[in-house]
Amino acid sequence: MHVLKGIKNVLMWFEHRLVLRETFWPIVRHPVPRSLRRKVGWMYVLGSTAMTLLFLQVATGIALSMVYVPSAGEAYESLNYLNFQVPLGWLLRAIHNWSATMMLIVVVLHMTQVFLAGAYKYPRELTWMLGVVLFFCTVGMAFTGQVLRWDADSYWGLGVGAAMIGRIPYIGPALVDLMMGGPMVGGETLSRFFALHVYIIPGILFAALGAHLYLVVRKGISEPPEVGNEVDPETYEEEYEKLIADGEGDPFFPGPMARDAFFIGFTLLFVLAIAVVFGPDGPGLSPDPANVAVEPVPDWYFLSLFAVLALSPRSLETYIILIGPIIVVGVLFMLPIFAGRGERHPFRRPVAVLSVVFIFLALSVLTWLGVTEPWSPHMNAWTGDAVPVNIVKRLSPTEMQGAVVLQLKACRNCHALDGIGGKRGPDLTHVGSRLDRPALVRQVVQGGGNMPAYGKQLTGAQITALVDFLHACRPENRPPAVVPTPGDGVEGPGKLSRAGP
Ligand code: HEC
Repeated sequence: MHVLKGIKNVLMWFEHRLVLRETFWPIVRHPVPRSLRRKVGWMYVLGSTAMTLLFLQVATGIALSMVYVPSAGEAYESLNYLNFQVPLGWLLRAIHNWSATMMLIVVVLHMTQVFLAGAYKYPRELTWMLGVVLFFCTVGMAFTGQVLRWDADSYWGLGVGAAMIGRIPYIGPALVDLMMGGPMVGGETLSRFFALHVYIIPGILFAALGAHLYLVVRKGISEPPEVGNEVDPETYEEEYEKLIADGEGDPFFPGPMARDAFFIGFTLLFVLAIAVVFGPDGPGLSPDPANVAVEPVPDWYFLSLFAVLALSPRSLETYIILIGPIIVVGVLFMLPIFAGRGERHPFRRPVAVLSVVFIFLALSVLTWLGVTEPWSPHMNAWTGDAVPVNIVKRLSPTEMQGAVVLQLKACRNCHALDGIGGKRGPDLTHVGSRLDRPALVRQVVQGGGNMPAYGKQLTGAQITALVDFLHACRPENRPPAVVPTPGDGVEGPGKLSRAGP
C-alpha cells in the first residue's frame, strides 16, 4: 500500500508541474458520435494507423541513420553492411521499407474512405487540405527514400526524372540543379536527397500532421453519412453538437480508441511478418550506367507514373509532365472548396464513386503496364543484341571500336539500331545523317532530353570511337550531316572528339 501511495505521490508531483492529465484527458476523452459504435466505425481506424506507421518510420529511420552513410561512394556499401554485418540490420531495413509501403497504402485508403464518406465537406475542408499535404509528403518520403538506396534503380530513375524536370520552361535547369546539386546525378545529389528525406519533408510532414490532428479533435470526427442527410453550413454545427452532446456521444477513449489500437496492433504484426518473410529491398546492382544487366524499375508505387511517361507519345510528354501534376494537385486540394456541401452518402454521389473506381482501375492498369510493357528505358534483352551486320560490314576499325563501346555502355537499352533495341530515344541507324560530330559529342557527353550524360563514364578515346561509329551510322549513299556551327566550329565538347591517345 505504501509503495502505491509513494508512486501516486511522485506522479502527482509531476502532474502539478506538467499539468499533463488536465491537458490531455479532455483530448483522449473528446466525444465522438455514437453511430461510430456500429460496424462502420471500423472504417475510421485508418488515420491513426497511418500515424502509428509514421512513428515506426521515425524510430527505424533514426536507427538506420546511425549506420547509413549519405555519400555517393559509401551509401551502397553501408546498406550492404547493414544487410549482412549489423545484427538484425536487415530486419531494421526490411521494417523501414515495408512499413513505408504499408503507410502509403493506408494513407491512400484513409483518403479514399474520407472522400467516399464525404467527410471532407464543411466544416472539415482544411482537415482534408492538410491531409493532401500529408499525402504528398508521404509520396515524397517514398521517392526520396528510394533514392537513398542509391543502387542502379534509384540512380537511373533519378537520371530520367531529372531530365524530365529539366523540361519545365525557364526554371527547369535551375530546379534540376537544386535537386541534384548539379546538372546531373552526382555526389551531391545524395546529400540533397538525404536532407530532403530526413529534415525537410519530415519537418513539413510533422507540422501538417500537428495541424491535421488539432482540427480532427477540434472539429470532431465526422459522423458516418446517412442517405438524404445533406451538409448545410447553416445548420451542420448545431446538428453535430447534438450528436456529441452529453449522453449522446461516446468518449474517444476507451471505445473507439480500443478499436484503433486493435487494428494498429494487427497492422504492426503484419508489417513485421512481411518484413521477416521478404526481407529488405535491395540495394540492387551498384549504381553505374555501364551496368549491362541494369533494369531500372522504380518502386511499384511509382510504376504507374513511369508507365504514363513511357507510353505517352513523345510529342505530348512534355505537356503531360508539366500540366499533369498541376491538375492532380489542384483537383485534390480544391475538392472541398467545390464540393464542400450537400449529400455525403456515397449512394447519392455516383460521380464520386465512379471517379474512385476509375482512378483505382487506371492506376492498376498503368502499374500492370509498368511491370509488363517494355517501358523504356528497358534494360535487359536488347543490350545483348549484336550491332546489325549491315551496319558493321562497312565500318572502319575505330568505328568498330565505337560499336563495341555502344554495346558495353548499354546505349541500346534506349536506342534501337535497325529497329532493334530500346524505344526511349531515337533509332540511331541513321543518326550520322542527322547530327554532325560536335552535336554527337555533345549528346553523348552531356546527355539531355531523357538521356543521361556519359561524360564521366567514358574516356576520351571511347568518346572518339563512339562518335566515329555514330557518324558512320547512315545510309551508304548519304553524306554525313553538316550542321553549320556558329563561329569557328571548335566549341568545347567538339574538341573532345579529337582528344585521347
Ligand atoms: C536512358 C535512355 C538512354 C540511354 C541509356 C542512352 N540514350 Fe541516347 N538518347 C536518349 C533520348 C531520350 C534521346 C533524345 C534526346 C532528345 O530528344 O533531346 C537520346 C538521343 C541520343 C542521340 C541523338 C539522336 C538524334 O537523332 O537526335 C544520340 C546520338 C544518342 N542519344 C547516343 C547515345 C549513346 C551513344 C548512348 C550510350 C553511350 C546513349 N545514347 C544512351 C536516351 C538514352
